[in-house]
Amino acid sequence: MMLEKVNKSFNFILFGASGDLAYIKLFPSIYELVLQNRFNKSYSIVGFGRSDLTDLEFRKRIQKSLKEHVDKKIYDQKRVNEMLDRVFYHQGQYDKAGSYQLLAQKLLELQNGKKVYNLAFLAVPPSVFEPIIEGLNPIRKSLGELQVMMEKPFGNDRESAGELFKSITNRFKKEDLFLIDHYLGKAPIQSLLPLRYNNTILNLLLKGSAIANIQISALETVGVDERVGYFEKVGIVKDMIKSHLLQILALLTMSMPLHPDERSIRREKGNILSALKYSGSDCGAVLGQYATYRKQKDVAPDSDTPTFAAFKCTIDMTKWYKVPIYIRTGKKLTHKHTYIVIEFEKPPFKEGDDSLDANRMIIELYPQEQIQIRLVNDVGKVAPKSRELISHESLACMGEGCLPAYGRLILDAFLGHHNSFLSIDEIYASWHFVDELMTCFKKRKLPLVHYKDDSEGPKEQYELTKADGFEWYDPDKL
Ligand code: BG6
Repeated sequence: MMLEKVNKSFNFILFGASGDLAYIKLFPSIYELVLQNRFNKSYSIVGFGRSDLTDLEFRKRIQKSLKEHVDKKIYDQKRVNEMLDRVFYHQGQYDKAGSYQLLAQKLLELQNGKKVYNLAFLAVPPSVFEPIIEGLNPIRKSLGELQVMMEKPFGNDRESAGELFKSITNRFKKEDLFLIDHYLGKAPIQSLLPLRYNNTILNLLLKGSAIANIQISALETVGVDERVGYFEKVGIVKDMIKSHLLQILALLTMSMPLHPDERSIRREKGNILSALKYSGSDCGAVLGQYATYRKQKDVAPDSDTPTFAAFKCTIDMTKWYKVPIYIRTGKKLTHKHTYIVIEFEKPPFKEGDDSLDANRMIIELYPQEQIQIRLVNDVGKVAPKSRELISHESLACMGEGCLPAYGRLILDAFLGHHNSFLSIDEIYASWHFVDELMTCFKKRKLPLVHYKDDSEGPKEQYELTKADGFEWYDPDKL
């Protein structure tokens, strides 16, 4: 198999070089790219940070994180050393033009004075997005080409996102930005469109008239812990639903353009996101907070930041007329499980027959990466109950060339594959929906339900589906 490679010399500049994201996800992902020989020409990786570190100290920290976060089976000290030899540290201040002039000098020296392609990754709090963009702007010409990958959050609502992008696109073209949602780098999510494009069965089934409801669940065991500063400002709806879960919904329900080019796919995803409506009384939502949340350091004792949310929405399109969509996500729950359930309508002649279970298609992202189809069989008089026939197939990437989500995204940015990233318009459309939802929460003074740590979350979530005659489906509970 021919692996896609980066066939150009480059500098990868990592802002936020000493943050968790860098050590836990980014360096291990870059290591896997190195291991798979994806970088064909000369390259250097430069960490930009405020701390005073030497190259050697920086390399030691990276080596430690690789030991912890890279699968032992693929850890090869020789290849690690090969990567670390290309890693450098640049100490600077995000808001000082001089720091960027020195950075430019360093990058040019590393490439023996040649102008090459540069990719900057902003793994930093949003308050420094603009200073970094402003700092990079004047040095672009001297470097050659420069593109930027940015980690969320992109604004805190539609208006602030608009201001942020206005200021960024005054300096950089939209095409030079790669706006990250790391769920788009996950193998089952990357499979959604190819599965739909290649299979008539799926296309016949994935339409409103055949579907009773859609459920998306992202249940997590972790609490907020040391990310509390960030989380207090955003809450679970903006942290998890605004991008990750709405992107899944868009990829699942969007119309399939005849030509699946980047522009058409983004347009169709945007159409779904723009057509979302929350539904029902109380905004069709339940908000919760785990019991020990307020006891954490740096959390106000009366904080009303939700750590759990479940809500119902619909897509305002004839094709999806009245199909309820239930989305839920929460922290400090009993188990980590991320999955999508598509529940189909029962056959018309069985309508109202509660003994018959519905057919379901389940796409799991975690802990399994797989697709399941569940059919119902009736074995006649000998058996008391109908039985589910479960057929499942892995959606995990297998064999040579697989990469973790961030590895895939970094590679896609190098290769200029914009499909794996968000467009500004999709971000605006998602914000528009989330802003409406948040306004509804405020207007209706939606109560915050407290739930026990390590529990299933607020029991009110079950009322949400029950009101429509459905239940949250847990593929583990048969
Ligand atoms: C991040 C959120 O984007 O996604 C976190 O900020 C969340 O709060 C994480 O825990 C979940 O990602 P994954 O890949 O573990 O499902």
